[in-house]
Amino acid sequence: MKSIIYIILVFINFIPQTSINDQQVLEYQTNKTKQDAYLVLGTKCNICHSAKKNRTIFSLENMDDLAKAIEYQVFITKKMPKGRKNNLSSLEEEKLLKWISSLNKT
Ligand code: HEC
Repeated sequence: MKSIIYIILVFINFIPQTSINDQQVLEYQTNKTKQDAYLVLGTKCNICHSAKKNRTIFSLENMDDLAKAIEYQVFITKKMPKGRKNNLSSLEEEKLLKWISSLNKT
């Protein structure tokens, strides 16, 4: 009986510890910021952009490279999203801005 308990205790020791370090926290936050922004691009921009040829379809792969163009269209010329009914809510704008500024930091 004792030896069984001993074996169990040895095994428990090998279970990886789930402690997270600062780097992982930062990575998680960065991913969350990007995911939040992607959700906006996917729901408010791609509906239209994917409907026509020659228009960029935003993805998790290309969005970081397009951040400057997105910032320009949405916040500077305010041409996008096209169409009144497609207006972004202030929360959605916030998510895009947060993501754009997270890229400027690195
Ligand atoms: C109702 C349709 C529609 C919606 C919604 C829309 N766009 Fe566009 N977008 C266009 C069209 C059409 C063009 C082509 C240029 C023009 O006509 O002004 C364009 C062009 C662009 C361009 C530059 C050219 C390119 O394709 O790369 C960017 C960047 C852009 N849109 C970003 C966005 C973002 C970001 C959103 C969402 C917040 C958005 N658009 C939502 C129709 C739309």
